[in-house]
Amino acid sequence: MFGKRKQPFGGNDGPLKLVEPAPHTTAQTVAMASSNAPERTGPEDDDYYALKAQVMSAVLETIDIVKLSDMDAVQAREEIQALISDIAAAQKLKIPLAAQEDLYRDICNDMLGYGPLEPLLARDDISDIMVNGARRVFIEVDGKVQQTSVRFKDNSQLLNICQRIVSQVGRRVDESSPICDARLMDGSRVNVIAPPLAIDGPSLTIRKFKREKLTLDKLVSFGSITFEGAEVLKIIGRVRCNVIISGGTGSGKTTLLNTLTRFIDHEERIVTCEDSAELQLQQPHVVRLETRPPNLEGQGEITMYNLVRNCLRMRPERIIVGEVRGPEVFDLLQAMNTGHDGSMGTIHSNSPRDCLKRMESMIAMSGYNLPATTVREMIAGAVDVIIQAARMRDGSRKITHITEVTGMEGDVITTQDLFVYDIEGEDASGKVIGRHKSTGIGRPNFYDRARYYGEERRLMQALEAAHAGPAGFGKLG
Ligand SMILES: Nc1ncnc2c1ncn2[C@@H]1O[C@H](COP(=O)(O)OP(=O)(O)O)[C@@H](O)[C@H]1O
Ligand SMILES: [Mg+2]
Repeated sequence: MFGKRKQPFGGNDGPLKLVEPAPHTTAQTVAMASSNAPERTGPEDDDYYALKAQVMSAVLETIDIVKLSDMDAVQAREEIQALISDIAAAQKLKIPLAAQEDLYRDICNDMLGYGPLEPLLARDDISDIMVNGARRVFIEVDGKVQQTSVRFKDNSQLLNICQRIVSQVGRRVDESSPICDARLMDGSRVNVIAPPLAIDGPSLTIRKFKREKLTLDKLVSFGSITFEGAEVLKIIGRVRCNVIISGGTGSGKTTLLNTLTRFIDHEERIVTCEDSAELQLQQPHVVRLETRPPNLEGQGEITMYNLVRNCLRMRPERIIVGEVRGPEVFDLLQAMNTGHDGSMGTIHSNSPRDCLKRMESMIAMSGYNLPATTVREMIAGAVDVIIQAARMRDGSRKITHITEVTGMEGDVITTQDLFVYDIEGEDASGKVIGRHKSTGIGRPNFYDRARYYGEERRLMQALEAAHAGPAGFGKLG
């Protein structure tokens, strides 16, 4: 009906206006007691640690742990603070006034939460926390990695905190099982790798879950994409193009996938498959699935492949796969080829061409013994658009390509770029200078799809305005 695919796609009839749904308002569970304390600025000295250790051990001797576990976070903190004052008075400890607040907070954090990590976890501007042993803690803010003054007392305190994190998902981390993935209660993804594998002490990596997800309009304001480019993406999301988002680690693939899902009509039944639920779909008819790692005995693992296979039996209209890494690519492509139009996934690759190659090699590695041309035909028939995300040297994220997969010529998959980002250089401060350009394609391959949804005028306007360059910018506004 619309070019490549044999089967018509579902969806509602007639033109519908494309509207951006209201922002997500469902309250998220935030289990961690967030401390509002600012991040400490100076490194702590040994005296402070000695004092803290002394008070801490006295607190541990006196406190009723069972009673403490029954209290809510505020009560528990008050209880511990009262105890510290009592101890200080009884032992005639001289706690410098300046250190008092720190001491209260650190002891509470150690006993109740994630210790020195608490202030970092409470900050919403941080996207990643990376702990390389007790003495080195790095964070990523605005795409830039920086070292913090946060320290752990020693590696055993760090390992205890790792233990506390992974125990919440029923795992254990120690010498016999030193690698572990987990999730904080707020949805943040955690990886722990402990000695002896990590040579300089436990290594903890946290990809923080952002409650406030970026929207396409935000990406426009950051300069990740132009207004016209974003318009085209909205249409791609709505008119059920099959989309692969390609990019490196932390390039913004999941973020982009999430923004695209906002333009899906609310009547569609969507099944999402993820390693850890990051997507926040706004639609009412969504089934969210998550993979499961093996348990301590090495059993019970449910892989992405298992999930994608199963979700084909769930009568989905669209399938959305958080991260395609292995044999599930075959099932996703098959779904795309058999009427589940508008399916989407992300793939780790560095360019749209590279992405096509990756899909091919993932299929080859999964043991399907198919001729290369057949595999390519399958890919070319399934995928409509590849969107490339990249993290630039200066930490900014850009959408560098919106590329259509147009078909085959001989045994080569053909593509055409609708939008590309051209890097022109760097300014004195290292900021990347470049420009998003429309490539001037007269009519995209998915034009007929857009017309079916009544979006063809908007599509052509966006492309024309983009092609007219800065002079045409804002024509759509
Ligand atoms: N266009 C963007 N501009 C600024 N920050 C972004 C952009 N896209 C993503 N981010 C941030 O970058 C981090 C990594 O994004 P994510 O989508 O999880 O990457 P990936 O899935 O490619 O690993 C997140 O903290 C996210 O909020
Ligand atoms: Mg991701």
